[in-house]
Amino acid sequence: MRKKIVAGNWKMNKNFAEAEELVGAIADELDEKDLACEVIICPPALYLEMASDYAEESILSIAAQNVSNFDNGAYTGEVSASMLGEMEIAYCIVGHSERRKYFNETDKMLAEKVDRLLDYNMKPIFCIGEQLDERESGNHFDVVKNQMTNGVFHLNKDEFLNIVVAYEPVWAIGTGVVATPDQAQEMHSYIRGLISEKYGDKTADDTTILYGGSCNAQNAVTLFANADVDGGLIGGASLKADDFVKIVTSF
Ligand code: PGA
Repeated sequence: MRKKIVAGNWKMNKNFAEAEELVGAIADELDEKDLACEVIICPPALYLEMASDYAEESILSIAAQNVSNFDNGAYTGEVSASMLGEMEIAYCIVGHSERRKYFNETDKMLAEKVDRLLDYNMKPIFCIGEQLDERESGNHFDVVKNQMTNGVFHLNKDEFLNIVVAYEPVWAIGTGVVATPDQAQEMHSYIRGLISEKYGDKTADDTTILYGGSCNAQNAVTLFANADVDGGLIGGASLKADDFVKIVTSF
């Protein structure tokens, strides 16, 4: 049976002291609770070591927000999968729409990033999702299908079992406009169908598919109540411990 997951993507926010306070507060609040899901914190790269120290003492898992598509070598400014692996980072976000848009990350680069992470035993949280005009013109299913095909469907079945999918409609990210529970369920079920066609029902059933985009402490319950929504990738609402803990306990 697949895992439920709530992951907090802090993006490029918080100074060191604030980050330490936030991860400490989340760990303290969650350690007293009986949780129905795995909880992942995705801090900026420079705070990964600090966050990992907290994670060792708590139920939290840690994800990086990005990784190089190259293995090692003369790539100034990059962080490699082998470096993340040494820090016992369990997951890494790949293909977030902000990286596709602002850093020109192509499908080919994303597929390479997925491969690098698997080489070092980390699980990619692979983000897909359509832009507003693509939904309005009825192309959203094709967009998502292409992103899955180009980013992760080169993997064999055993490799694919390490993938967490995050459906994040771009029009919902940071806008306050959340997908309706029906829109989320419809797309998640479509994605699970794609996985089933490629790898079979069992693999599709075992794959965690998260929803992301303006998910918050108020709407998480109705989103997570859908059969194919296995949790969330949370941006803005993961920056306040109380809101994030409320989302984590929304199952
Ligand atoms: P948001 O971001 O929750 O602030 O909309 C989600 C994400 O980008 O992962």
